[in-house]
Amino acid sequence: MTLLTIDGLGKSYGHTTALDDVSLRVEAGRRTAVVGPSGSGKTTLLRLVAGFEAPDAGRIELDGTIMADGPAHVPAHRRGIGIVAQDGALFPHLSVAENIGFGIPRGTPDRETQIAGLIDMVELDRAMLERRPHQLSGGQQQRVALARALGRKPRLILLDEPFSALDTGLRENMRKAVARVLQAAGITAILVTHDQTEALSFADQVAVLRGGRLVQTGAPRTLYLQPRDRETALFLGDAVLLPAHARDGHADCALGAVPIRAERQGRVEIMLRPEQIRIVPADEDGTGRVVDIEFGGAVCTVTVALEGTSLPPVAIRTSSLAPPALGDRVRLDIDGAAHVLDADGADRPPAP
Ligand SMILES: Nc1ncnc2c1ncn2[C@@H]1O[C@H](COP(=O)(O)OP(=O)(O)O)[C@@H](O)[C@H]1O
Ligand SMILES: [Mg+2]
Repeated sequence: MTLLTIDGLGKSYGHTTALDDVSLRVEAGRRTAVVGPSGSGKTTLLRLVAGFEAPDAGRIELDGTIMADGPAHVPAHRRGIGIVAQDGALFPHLSVAENIGFGIPRGTPDRETQIAGLIDMVELDRAMLERRPHQLSGGQQQRVALARALGRKPRLILLDEPFSALDTGLRENMRKAVARVLQAAGITAILVTHDQTEALSFADQVAVLRGGRLVQTGAPRTLYLQPRDRETALFLGDAVLLPAHARDGHADCALGAVPIRAERQGRVEIMLRPEQIRIVPADEDGTGRVVDIEFGGAVCTVTVALEGTSLPPVAIRTSSLAPPALGDRVRLDIDGAAHVLDADGADRPPAP
């Protein structure tokens, strides 16, 4: 069932177009991530959905009710939407318990029990209920903010880069914890982030926002392996892009004949993810030479100059267990198929 339908949404601030013709559907009980660089319109999108601002164009429908459409506008407090801001935005003068219980009317018989249940849900110790926000770490504050939003039993929860202020390790833990909490409570969520790894691992559905436009929406795996265009490919992860000539399910490129799924013929640009490429020592039938090796802990980046081409060397991140040596002649073997990028992807309408 579709919980949220966004249709042709537009918003400008003076001469700045923050959102342009954005359409998105969010299924009930699922997690959507909207990912885009800073300034791409992520916060604006959340603010319009939450009802803090009205769109210039388009409509927003939640659970069968119009929230915004031209002059029609349901105010934020009547939308049943929870929002967790980037900085948590807790009330500094209130205890953790009062922050969490903010949306639960005083006099509700089991108010204390509900608050205790909520702090359990976000996996914090009940001993913290008496503390003030400044006595908590960043991650703990984020959990309290989430508990506060959940306390209002929202139909939809909006998360605006909630993990960006946290350290890498903590960030991963929080992401998993939040996904778990939402799953357990059956709450629909939209997370916005500039971090593609976060988006790909958190969500069932990922939407890529660029310059106020949604360029592509789909399952994380689909977007990662079949990005619409070069910019999306590079935004979602490391990629090796090569000019090629397509014919009958193959693309001839500097790495040899590589299988492709697209039924395309002629000049194309193909994309490979680095984990599809194996660097094999090959004195005889090598296609390149190792010109640089950068050790980076678990992975190292091996740069290979391709022979017989004027293409720039390709950088491949590979396991650092047994890297080739500088100057080695190598062959690059491919696992799976290469993806053919749209030559004019940026000009095409986004896929439904
Ligand atoms: N209240 C505002 N007044 C003027 N410009 C704004 C306002 N809010 C956002 N913008 C502009 O709209 C664009 C999108 O901003 P925002 O939605 O905050 O992006 P993101 O959250 O992806 O970083 C930016 O160019 C930003 O400067
Ligand atoms: Mg923002």
